[in-house]
Amino acid sequence: MLKHPAEPFRIKMVEPISLQPFELRKQVMIQAGYNLFSLPAKDVYIDLLTDSGTGAMSQAQWASIMEGDESYAGARSFYRLKEVINDIFGFEFFVPTHQGRAAENILSAIMVSNDSYIPSNMHFDTTDANLRARGGRPINLVNDQAFDISARVPFKGNMDIDKLEKWITEIGAEKIPFGCITITNNAGGGQPVSLKNIKEVAAVYRSHKIPFFIDACRYAENCFFIKLREPGYENKTTLEIAREIFSLADGAWMSSKKDAIVNIGGFLAMRDENLYQKVCNELILREGFPTYGGLAGRDLEALATGLYEGLNEDYLDYRLKQTAYFAGKIREIGIPIIEPAGGHAIYLDAGSLLSQIPQNEFPGQALTAALYLEGGIRGVEIGSVMFAHKDQDTGEMVYPKLELVRLALPRRVYTQSHLDYVVDILKEVWEKRDSYRGYRITYAPELLRHFTARFEPL
Ligand SMILES: Cc1ncc(COP(=O)(O)O)c(C=O)c1O
Repeated sequence: MLKHPAEPFRIKMVEPISLQPFELRKQVMIQAGYNLFSLPAKDVYIDLLTDSGTGAMSQAQWASIMEGDESYAGARSFYRLKEVINDIFGFEFFVPTHQGRAAENILSAIMVSNDSYIPSNMHFDTTDANLRARGGRPINLVNDQAFDISARVPFKGNMDIDKLEKWITEIGAEKIPFGCITITNNAGGGQPVSLKNIKEVAAVYRSHKIPFFIDACRYAENCFFIKLREPGYENKTTLEIAREIFSLADGAWMSSKKDAIVNIGGFLAMRDENLYQKVCNELILREGFPTYGGLAGRDLEALATGLYEGLNEDYLDYRLKQTAYFAGKIREIGIPIIEPAGGHAIYLDAGSLLSQIPQNEFPGQALTAALYLEGGIRGVEIGSVMFAHKDQDTGEMVYPKLELVRLALPRRVYTQSHLDYVVDILKEVWEKRDSYRGYRITYAPELLRHFTARFEPL
């Protein structure tokens, strides 16, 4: 029988949730134009829309909040966070930001210009958009196996080193203001990157004098995957692994809403003092004074405490086994998912589950709607609603390779019985899969349409 370790915490404060009656779920879906982003959260029973900023803070984090120093300049809380960032990541300079994309915006404003190229394994969509907004071209050089959803390889987030080396030679290092890697690779299913690969990537960048930045959103989950899967690291602590990873980089940014288990926050860190000066100037323009960024002193405290909690190995063992448990149960039903399970989410292959629905009728949208209507569950479509677009030259529609639905797991929030409930609803959806129909878009904006589009069932 599949199970995961009992939660390494007990519940001291509760937030009531309830399953609304079917008739009400139907009504709110009509009002929301069948877009799950438009649903009031109170009408959602199990919310797996994202793992970002949705985690439960610990008693220690709440206690830290009371210690927040709200001074405009030079707050004690800033210096505490500086010490923690230096201890874990080893970067001398850093600024707080209100979340990950603010750090991306600042870095792009300073380093990216027209005709510059920025490689990574896969850029997350906010990184991609921030680079493009400054005239840059994001380039994804993940290994080919990342696109084979059934390939069970341990480090599916790895970058293809040969491709990277060849591509740099073709483009010319002078056009590459910095290179990245995202750990874990969210856009590719939350898949980890090995330390061997990070070392190789760093060596390639270094040999071309290209500064190396890490998108560190889910670095702690990545560290634990390394401990579990990479020979030579089984006896290292996650903290030691993290230190080794970041010693290879010139800088990093983090949406701390993930592995630092805070509801808001992020940072941008670096070694180069000149760059830091420029970053401070940008930060003052956009986010706030360099010792608070876009955050309150109390947020800095919760973040400093949360960074260590995110690295705790009992927590990480439970976290990754919870995801693996959920994946195993879904696999037992027969629903295809991206294999192996990543760190923070399960990606259902809606295209093959609802194979009767063509891509232009949005199988992922149909599956997210079914999950809500059948059981009050909210997931997110990652398919044609999000990515289909008109080709700029031919005017033809271009559809993505995969039609996925992501079920992300908020940290320390849902118990095994919540997940068992989701599995029961997935079983019902599986049994009724032939009865579902597609959707038609009745409204969509030009850009990022998935957030506000409206639909009608066909
Ligand atoms: C890999 C990755 N990078 C960057 C971001 C952006 O962070 P934020 O949502 O805090 O702006 C995210 C958010 O999901 C992410 O997953």
